Amino acid sequence: MNMPVSVSVDQGVALIRIDNPPVNALSPGVIDGLDAALDQAVRDNSVRAIVVIGAGRTFIAGADIKGLEQLAWGSDSGAPEMHELLQKLEDAPKPVVMAMHGTALGGGLEVAMAGHYRVAVPDALMGQPEVNLGIIPGAEGTQRLPRLVGLEKAIEMCVSGKPIKAADALNAGLIDRIIEGDLASGAAAFAREMAARSESHPKTREQRNKLPSASAISGMLAAGRELARKTRRNLDAPVAVLDALEAAATLPFEQGCAREREIFLTLAKSEQAKALIHAFFAERGVSKVPGISKDTVAASVNRVGIVGAGTMGGGIAMACANAGIAVRVTDATANALDAGMATIRKNYDVSVKRGRFTPAMVEERMARIVPQVGYDGFGDVDLVIEAVFENMALKKEIAGFVASSREVSQSGQLYTTNTSTLDIDEIAAATGRPSKVLGLHFFSPANVMRLVEIVRGKATSPETLATAMAFAKRIGKVGVVVGNCPGFVGNRMMFPYMYEAQFLVEDGATPQQVDEALTGFGMAMGIFAVDDMAGLDVAWRVRQELNQFSDPGARKPLVADRLCEMGRFGQKTGKGWYVYGDDRKPQPDPEVLALIEQLAAANGIGRRSFTNEEIIERTIYALINEGARVLDEGYALRAADIDVIYTNGYGFPAWRGGPMFYADRVGLKKIYDRVSTFYRELGQRWAPAPLLERLAKDGTTFKEFDKRRASSVVGASS
Ligand SMILES: NC(=O)c1ccc[n+]([C@@H]2O[C@H](COP(=O)([O-])OP(=O)(O)OC[C@H]3O[C@@H](n4cnc5c(N)ncnc54)[C@H](O)[C@@H]3O)[C@@H](O)[C@H]2O)c1
Repeated sequence: MNMPVSVSVDQGVALIRIDNPPVNALSPGVIDGLDAALDQAVRDNSVRAIVVIGAGRTFIAGADIKGLEQLAWGSDSGAPEMHELLQKLEDAPKPVVMAMHGTALGGGLEVAMAGHYRVAVPDALMGQPEVNLGIIPGAEGTQRLPRLVGLEKAIEMCVSGKPIKAADALNAGLIDRIIEGDLASGAAAFAREMAARSESHPKTREQRNKLPSASAISGMLAAGRELARKTRRNLDAPVAVLDALEAAATLPFEQGCAREREIFLTLAKSEQAKALIHAFFAERGVSKVPGISKDTVAASVNRVGIVGAGTMGGGIAMACANAGIAVRVTDATANALDAGMATIRKNYDVSVKRGRFTPAMVEERMARIVPQVGYDGFGDVDLVIEAVFENMALKKEIAGFVASSREVSQSGQLYTTNTSTLDIDEIAAATGRPSKVLGLHFFSPANVMRLVEIVRGKATSPETLATAMAFAKRIGKVGVVVGNCPGFVGNRMMFPYMYEAQFLVEDGATPQQVDEALTGFGMAMGIFAVDDMAGLDVAWRVRQELNQFSDPGARKPLVADRLCEMGRFGQKTGKGWYVYGDDRKPQPDPEVLALIEQLAAANGIGRRSFTNEEIIERTIYALINEGARVLDEGYALRAADIDVIYTNGYGFPAWRGGPMFYADRVGLKKIYDRVSTFYRELGQRWAPAPLLERLAKDGTTFKEFDKRRASSVVGASS
């Protein structure tokens, strides 16, 4: 059996190597193994110094999140007691050097901080990202970190959860040296140097010189609370971590540790931790797709051709260039192309201003994007992404021309479309080689938003799908495979949600009230603000293209079309549901409120007031009900995939886990009952989804449904 921790001795240095693939997570085996290895190294008289290092691509990347999940759902066995091991490391009579490469995050950094010294390779990353899982560091990280880097830096690291690089860590005092070249030998040399230098070695828990004076503490904590409030809206953990850091600055070490443990255990069982841990595993689960295995060959994508240099084409070009991919962009006219390239340049300039890129990095990226009218060189690209107007005739014409003309394509090339709603199979048929076609539905701004829906057509081959999945990953996106239905998963669910919000407004709420209820619930933006940002004309065109209200009995929203007829397309025209001044902030517009009242009166709609709770039920439950249909019909493989789509592409709060997880937590019976009531009161559009009804009646959850579907290996129906 492979032991996760081994010891080898070379010239007086014991090298303790942690080998627990893939990321050396702190499983119970690693903790016990480290403990035993330390004993062995201390006992061995030939050993003068100890180096702890990770095998493979990283140091200890973090805690075992499966254990955290068990803890969140009630089993205390998921919370390994690390205190003894950490104290033993710190009390070791020989110098212990932690040698870091890859990532030392969470529990990984906590172990490292209990060593006497830390060294790292230049590109190593170190951090305490626990708040992103709804918890705080639980193995004394909040107590040791401020002792090494000071309270202010510890606050910044623990509240943001963002890792820092080796140079920053050296500056802050988190590490003692950066090792260029081979880490193991560099760390061993450093360890010998330390052993020769002194008999005693610094114990982090005993250091107090970096901790601020009593008078400075409260100011730093107040600034930290402000940071948490501003940058980590609605999250409990970034606020709670400040209490633990306060304990580090004001209490003796042991008492501080006890305080940290108490906060950790409370948060670990909280709703937010459950939701965020769910979101973590949901994101990792999207790569499991029926029909795709490790043996499915994914072609590598190094050159991409983009058709359409508009909002999406430009953003996609940037996402590719940022990942080192060569891009050709074409558009119908030189003017459109110039405008597209100017927007790309402007967006990069903003990144430079914000310190994200240096000017040199931008030039490197710009050089990868070749603008051109026409299709010269498209024959050499590995993948085409079409991002022209949302119009089926145009998309088919381009698909037919690009994918079937010898001059601009080759048979191995993938052809993809960024359509938000249209039928992938119809576009695929126009290419004459549908097995090489799929949808790549990016979200705006495409260089920023992490989500891509990968839309599998009925003829898409497994290799095409695997290539698209690998491509999405390569450009830093979360690719979720979905089936081909109007709007796919995200937008299909969005429509009932959006229209319900519009009906609420006709029934007596205001756009502002609905938006405030939604942001109060945790949505990144209200739906009317979203509509204004995306452009009201976009949904207008979709309504026409998809003939969404063809059923004569269906209630049709009255206001949105009228706003479009008035030229109120949202932010781009300065007016939509709201009116926009120079600050681009939405302001309620009396003209819109009057229009709403007038249209409601003319159509005999009685108006009343709504509570925020009613608004949330009518909008979010509409989303969930449609989600249940999408899932039942197989267009989404898992409820958890829907959650990934909504938390990454639609601003749904990750701390609620996603709409389907949220539904489970509210209870499907309660949701079904409310949906049934709305059905009786509001009509056909609220017909309960059969799956929601089944699960509610069985007293089960979407999570259980996912498990059962996984074990019966039912794939997407498309
Ligand atoms: N904007 C969004 O939020 C968003 C999000 C996801 C998907 N989409 C989809 O992406 C696609 C593009 O949307 P957009 O917002 O970038 O539109 P856009 O209007 O900003 O850009 C479309 C571009 O296509 C160009 N074009 C038109 N006909 C062409 C032709 N024959 N050959 C080459 N170029 C041509 C236009 O000149 C324009 O530059 C649409 O299918 C849309 O549904 C948009």
